[in-house]
Amino acid sequence: MKLWGGRFTKPTNELVDEYTASIRFDQKLAKYDIQGSLAHVEMLAKCGIIPESDAKTIAKGLKVVGQKILAGEAELTEANEDIHMNVEKLLIDEIGPVGGKLHTGRSRNDQVALDMRLYLREALVTLSQQLVEVQQALFTQAKDNLDTVLPGYTHLQRAQPVLFAHHMMAYVFMFQRDVERLADSFKRVNQSPLGAGALAGTSFPIDRHFVAEKLNFDGICDNSLDAVSDRDFVIEFLSNASLVSAHLSRLCEELVQWSSAEFNFVELDDAFCTGSSMMPQKKNPDVAELVRGKTGRVYGHLIGMLTTLKGLPLAYNKDMQEDKEGMFDTVETLKGALALFAPMIETMDVKKENMYQAVAKDYSNATDLADYLVGKDLPFRDAHAVVGQVVLHCINEGKFLLDLSLEQFQTFSTLIDKDIYDVLSPKAVVNARNVAGGTAKNRVEEQMTKAEKLFENNSAWIEVHANKIEAFSFED
Ligand code: ARG
Repeated sequence: MKLWGGRFTKPTNELVDEYTASIRFDQKLAKYDIQGSLAHVEMLAKCGIIPESDAKTIAKGLKVVGQKILAGEAELTEANEDIHMNVEKLLIDEIGPVGGKLHTGRSRNDQVALDMRLYLREALVTLSQQLVEVQQALFTQAKDNLDTVLPGYTHLQRAQPVLFAHHMMAYVFMFQRDVERLADSFKRVNQSPLGAGALAGTSFPIDRHFVAEKLNFDGICDNSLDAVSDRDFVIEFLSNASLVSAHLSRLCEELVQWSSAEFNFVELDDAFCTGSSMMPQKKNPDVAELVRGKTGRVYGHLIGMLTTLKGLPLAYNKDMQEDKEGMFDTVETLKGALALFAPMIETMDVKKENMYQAVAKDYSNATDLADYLVGKDLPFRDAHAVVGQVVLHCINEGKFLLDLSLEQFQTFSTLIDKDIYDVLSPKAVVNARNVAGGTAKNRVEEQMTKAEKLFENNSAWIEVHANKIEAFSFED
């Protein structure tokens, strides 16, 4: 007999059970479901809705059920559809009919919204922590490469030299926005929907705030219809996760390029590469490729959930059960990628000399020759044209700017003097970008000082929020 079997005269078709059941995937919510139920049952007794002694029996039973599920000792069945009804069934098996009092004043609709939020807020803290570790790895590489010059690219053509530290810091700031987005979204996740009932609230004199406080929520969802219908927080997470994936993927692409023989700028540690079953010489950047590849599934989950929610009338609809697999998979996908990323970056060998050669044997100092002429009062547009001529001459001669003699320079412009050689050296070119946020060494150092302050904020946020989550447990 189903928990809701009273008004039915026939058993459910087996295919229906299989098709509609979510227990296959929502068993991930077991821990949160039980945490939520413990708070709910305590509230029921406190409000005089069920006797204190029943609440104690139920709480004890819930903890046993929770431990059994986590130990893999409980039988979870599709006949019982989802984690909520499986837990209730196991509870009744454990403590008898008094277990049937647990669901007083509650619906699976507010219950599942609660579980999702409890799950996600924990994931937000874990992912933030992992992002911070990736930032730290990038920061360390920046610190070690404050004198490493490499070509900066636009259109994947060498453009102007930059410090490798500057390049690493670009990703540090990208991931900083990710951390801040996750932290900001936490406020919207951390609101308790419990007490919304099926959709309209409940006739029992419950105390929603008590439950919210017990579970360390920041507040309660203000409108019961919204509380059970809202999956914005899932979409917001998937959207934020998509940006994390985009950032990881861009960095992955650079790692793949940089580790190719064509670039030869970095070597990824053997521990983070794999070989070919056929070609003995191969060392493939599989991790970077796979992280890049998994971006597709994360974006897919975002589009999937946006589409599922579109056009759903209020309040709960079974469609919303589709919120889970994409969210779980996204969390797991990011956790897996981030866990590998920090050590992969940390152990990456930066081939400073190769990077330097790519700058020295190139025309990426051409802008600086133009800027030099501007310094001698030539309008920038004219300077641009002169330098274009110089570069063309060099290309034809198989030379670089610094290979030209002063006489040769002066055939293009008499404004050029012998101090041009200092101006055009890679180091000078980099340090000339002495503007806030620029690639000059002192400006990159400024960025790093700023980042260290941001790291402190991140750590403080993580500490406060990790405590919120760890503050309760159903284990005795
Ligand atoms: N398994 C359901 C879900 O994940 C729980 C809520 C079901 N509510 C209902 N009235 N059928 O969405």
